[in-house]
Amino acid sequence: MSEDSDIQTTPRGFQCTLCNVHLPNTASLDQHVKGKKHRTLSTVRATRKTQEEHSVFVSGINPEVSQTDVAEYFQQFGAVTDVIIDKDKGVYAIVQFTETDSIQAALSCVEHKLKGLNLRVKPREKKEFKLIPKKKNDPKNLQQVLDCLKPDLCQLVSVNAQMQHIVERFQLGENEKKARSLLVQLMQEVFVEFFPDSKILPFGSSVNTFGIHSCDLDLFLDLENTKVFQAHAKSTTEQAGEGMSDDGRSEDSILSDIDLSTATPADVLDLVAMILKRCVPSVNKVQVVSSARLPVVKFHHRELNLQGDITINNRLAVRNTRFLQLCSGVDERLRPLVYTIRYWAKQKQLAGNPSGAGPLLNNYALTLLIIFFLQNCEPPVLPTVDQLKDLACEEEECEIEGWNCTFPSQPIAIPPSTNTQDLCTLLAGFFSFYAKFDFASSVISLREGRALPITDFLSQNKEDDGLQEDQPTKAHQQRLKLGPVNLLDPFELSHNVAGNLNERCRHSFQRECQEAEKYCRSLQYQQKSAKGKSWGLMRLFTPHGEVQPSKTEQLTISIPFKSASLPEQLCNELHTAGDSFRLLWFQRVCSAVEGVLKSILKCNLAPSKDAAFGEDSAVAAEEMETTEASVKSSLSDSFDGAETQNETSPVSAVAVGAKRPLSSGSDTSVSPQSKKPRMARRGKPEFPPWICVQKHIVWAGRRKVKRELIKDADLRPEGSCVALESQVTARIIEKEPELKDPLEFSVQPQMLGGTESTRAVLKLEPTSDQTGVFHDFFHFLEAFLPKMVETLLEKEEASA
Ligand code: UTP
Repeated sequence: MSEDSDIQTTPRGFQCTLCNVHLPNTASLDQHVKGKKHRTLSTVRATRKTQEEHSVFVSGINPEVSQTDVAEYFQQFGAVTDVIIDKDKGVYAIVQFTETDSIQAALSCVEHKLKGLNLRVKPREKKEFKLIPKKKNDPKNLQQVLDCLKPDLCQLVSVNAQMQHIVERFQLGENEKKARSLLVQLMQEVFVEFFPDSKILPFGSSVNTFGIHSCDLDLFLDLENTKVFQAHAKSTTEQAGEGMSDDGRSEDSILSDIDLSTATPADVLDLVAMILKRCVPSVNKVQVVSSARLPVVKFHHRELNLQGDITINNRLAVRNTRFLQLCSGVDERLRPLVYTIRYWAKQKQLAGNPSGAGPLLNNYALTLLIIFFLQNCEPPVLPTVDQLKDLACEEEECEIEGWNCTFPSQPIAIPPSTNTQDLCTLLAGFFSFYAKFDFASSVISLREGRALPITDFLSQNKEDDGLQEDQPTKAHQQRLKLGPVNLLDPFELSHNVAGNLNERCRHSFQRECQEAEKYCRSLQYQQKSAKGKSWGLMRLFTPHGEVQPSKTEQLTISIPFKSASLPEQLCNELHTAGDSFRLLWFQRVCSAVEGVLKSILKCNLAPSKDAAFGEDSAVAAEEMETTEASVKSSLSDSFDGAETQNETSPVSAVAVGAKRPLSSGSDTSVSPQSKKPRMARRGKPEFPPWICVQKHIVWAGRRKVKRELIKDADLRPEGSCVALESQVTARIIEKEPELKDPLEFSVQPQMLGGTESTRAVLKLEPTSDQTGVFHDFFHFLEAFLPKMVETLLEKEEASA
């Protein structure tokens, strides 16, 4: 099939039948056909077609017949390039020849006999190539699983009982644990043959007390002793002459192929993969993944239908698994909470989705979030990692890769918590804790049991002064990958366990927590329904997809505080601003917003008629005095080339004259400096709105104009994309007629943070929209504004 025949014209544009996508116009069609997806699928289809045309289908073999047997037999009809045997039952094979003529030769032979078996040879079926979309966690399937749980859950008497039921229903059974342990034992026996003195250690969900049926088997192959063995054997061999090592093991063992002290992880894993394939019965689908943060060998065990991973550089994971086991033993409420929250997160597609629908929280990260919440309960349910360290005795001291991993080996060493809250209350508490958590401005530390201020991690020039023992050192802090959720590993303090999450995941997690919090306040959560209706956990577990954004949410544009993408100089300034960093950042964002509206989109900005400030001005005056000095310099910085910061700016009004308090570190719901969450908060700071007038449809056809400008050297503007975007607007204004009635709308900036994730929110509202274009403009701004604000913040730095 040629590329052209993949494209069909539809009333709404085009449809690519290969990739199953709709394309509104020829420009997007052009881009799509040149794009990666379309090109990859075309290549895959062509390869499949060639394979089909060069191969035959062979049935009648059995598992004793090997790939080599089949290849050798079919060589008589022509050169064989590949043989694929079905892995599960080994009853059929696909034989691929170099030449298509060989197919005819094989098909015309009347009888095929191999190892006493009668083989049947058929032409390959010609299947139409179809894109099978990745299976996502279909809400329908999730609902079906939940429906099976419903009768049992609904008849229980309390949420506490429901949570215990979830543990019983999902936990690994004794037989499953035994089967896993036997497999580990078998692998140990096999590996020690090839890698003397090696150890294979399970970690993760199989052994951390939170495992569920069919969870994967994570293994760490510890080769430290093997390295010692090899070094010793080498020196002895050198002394004694070639041939035999001191314990009589022959030199032609697998170890003679590799020097463990210098080999790369990928080399070692290749060997591990080979051993798994050849020597461990029932193991298939062996694959080395060297690109992962920690390279692994993945495998599948047919009989146990078990997925497994083997890593060789993961001693810390074995230790953090011991930590999770310890926490489980310290307080028996942890397991039901973890099982319940993991199930909730799966239903809401927030975590643990192996089909890979986007970056999700991994189970380890989610468990750490639960432990952190329990450290922050009043009184705490679990101790901090630092407290655990102090409770350990000398023999329990442990350091791995330079990180302190000391904690007691037995739960008995830890005094029981005085917190008596039941499971139902703690579960509701978890949702409420994270519903209000300021992820953007915090770094979660289980080590200290508190949220550390993000500003400590922003500056490259931070001094180590004042850092306590075990706090991340300067070098470690610099390496921490900041993101929308910053969750420090309890031991490897330079690792952000949630570093894979994007802003969307953070938002979904928090929105679901807010929904759950609201539900947990209702009677349906706490009381069994007398009419047999869903209650308690059942309604909490309803799959994702039912939360509708509220109407007000639809008309606001959120600009999150993204610590990871801030320019360096601003990072340093925010670091110096400390608790007042939000004010400083908000200043910059508002300047940039004003710049986008005025200079790039050529809106007329008029002063607001009701620019009045709310209550609290006395307190505000005091607070502003302290913050004013630190932000003074930023106030005088005007938006580069955009004639902003005039007297109509709400920001200048607020910052210079109005003395309205701004939420800062002192207004946090979970104070970075104190362990206790502060729930009380004053009204959110609001500012007088900008009144904007737009006379042209500057949002329509921008891409086309941009392409024209880029192509035309005479028109192409010098400099950044800001200049280009301004020119795009100018061109549209030049060419397109004015709106009959100009669109007038207000933009109300607001800063949030402390008791929720730090961000600037712009509330937009039409004040005059005779031509009904406001919603189109709004949808355009939703994507355009945050992107341009980010660019302007960077530009400001570049031009500084
Ligand atoms: P998982 O996130 O897979 O957790 O990490 P799990 O409890 O095993 O859940 P399943 O497998 O999804 O059911 C597995 C282990 O890997 C280590 C931890 O020891 C964790 O228990 N790990 C994971 C880390 O050390 N750091 C990470 O960032 C992630």
